[in-house]
Amino acid sequence: KRHREASQGSVTGKGSHMAKTLIKNGKVISTTGVIAQDVLIDGETITALGAPGFFTDEGCDTIIDAAGKYVIPGGVDVHTHMELPFGGTFASDTFETGTIAAAWGGVTTIVDMAVQRYGENVFDGLAEWHRKAGGNCAVDYAFHQIIGGVDDESLKAMTYLTEHEGISSFKLFMAYPGVFYSDDGQILKAMQTAAECGAVIMMHAENGIAIDVLVQQALARNETDPKYHSYTRPSPLEAEATHRAIVLSHVAGNVPLYIVHMSAGDALNEVAAARHNGRNVFAETCPQYLWLTLEETLGQPGFEGAKWVCSTPVRSKMHDPDYIGIMGHGHQADLWKGLRMNELAVVSTDHCPFCFKDQKELGLGDFSKIPNGIGGVEHRMELIYQGVVAGELSLERWVETCCTTPARMFGMYPKKGVIAPGSDADVVVWDPNTKTKIGINDKHHMNMDHSAWEGWVIDGKVDTVLSRGQVLIQNDQFLGRKGHGQFVKRGLSQYLV
Ligand code: URP
Ligand code: ZN
Ligand code: ZN
Repeated sequence: KRHREASQGSVTGKGSHMAKTLIKNGKVISTTGVIAQDVLIDGETITALGAPGFFTDEGCDTIIDAAGKYVIPGGVDVHTHMELPFGGTFASDTFETGTIAAAWGGVTTIVDMAVQRYGENVFDGLAEWHRKAGGNCAVDYAFHQIIGGVDDESLKAMTYLTEHEGISSFKLFMAYPGVFYSDDGQILKAMQTAAECGAVIMMHAENGIAIDVLVQQALARNETDPKYHSYTRPSPLEAEATHRAIVLSHVAGNVPLYIVHMSAGDALNEVAAARHNGRNVFAETCPQYLWLTLEETLGQPGFEGAKWVCSTPVRSKMHDPDYIGIMGHGHQADLWKGLRMNELAVVSTDHCPFCFKDQKELGLGDFSKIPNGIGGVEHRMELIYQGVVAGELSLERWVETCCTTPARMFGMYPKKGVIAPGSDADVVVWDPNTKTKIGINDKHHMNMDHSAWEGWVIDGKVDTVLSRGQVLIQNDQFLGRKGHGQFVKRGLSQYLV
């Protein structure tokens, strides 16, 4: 009876049966606590949360027993690059393979970066992204728009996309001259436009002009190995660009500024200072910056390090040798602290996979030609949970940085990012009692011939994944399908100071 009361009105007007699911005996994690609660789902939507045993099994089509397990919102990865054209090739995951891998990793929403390159029309770039993703995704998806050529036409497009197309965030680049790069004047204009229409500016903050000089100098010295990718992108050039972006966003009327893939403690200090001053400045980091070091990855002998070439780069264990670190310890400790302190609001993956064979190998003999990117959409929830196990983060903050804040930051909350009545039934049952071994012959579903996380053993495991009420992952099987994922039209950011 209690169950019937709780789900009243759940049968559609057409009389069709909406499948009911009960997830019981688990502990629901939200940003504010870990509470023993049962979750009732009707069709695609969460309808109620109740004390353990409050709902009966009667009338439920699916019962999921989460005893001893955590129940968390589906992961929201707000930085992916499926099929990104880069360095003469394309990121190796399609929307189909990448979103299936996402599902395996407990991610039920991705926000991918639609591309406009210099000289291209923004609407054409967006149409191409809809064509690539439409009907192919296994989980829900949304888009940011990369603006690779700021001009009058693309500025107008920014307003239109924000107001009509559910695309309310735009990525600009202070790096990659000749490809995606914008100069300070262009950045200021784009920021002014975003301030007017309420959009968020996402910034790839590295001083690309200075980096290009360092790259040419290194190559002239015959320094061609992958490790020079990191040496030629020292952290002060990330910090300087971060500072400059923050200044420009201030001048542009405190437009919301979101720094992507932050890797350096000195860059983080710039964000912390801006936030201390009450500014609309936010940042994300990625698992590779929290866990991987130059010495163990890029710095491996020969060409092996190419697997970890990404920008911003994986950094040295300690602050860069020529940089006097304020904290006196490494970037990773700074980043974990930043996550705890909300100086870093979000963990994304910047998922941008390239195979070693024929793709990373494009840079044999010249590190600057190695396509930039690491695949990770499958492993973010696992790798950040490992931070919980290591005592770096609380369970609540794990959910906040990987699910709830990404949804709020980019205008998808409370549809996404939370277990609450009325929200999409995107739910992950997480088993903290089992381990996950990552690797090409272990857990690996991304379309890559290697893993940046080969051999890593994680405490905990994605047990069951539901996307809008549909079970996608259960008993180590993928039960979803391409085409299940729907485009999410986003609103404005809900996370402004
Ligand atoms: O190395 C990276 N991050 N590749 C993807 C492009 C970008 O800058 O995010
Ligand atoms: Zn970037
Ligand atoms: Zn990226």
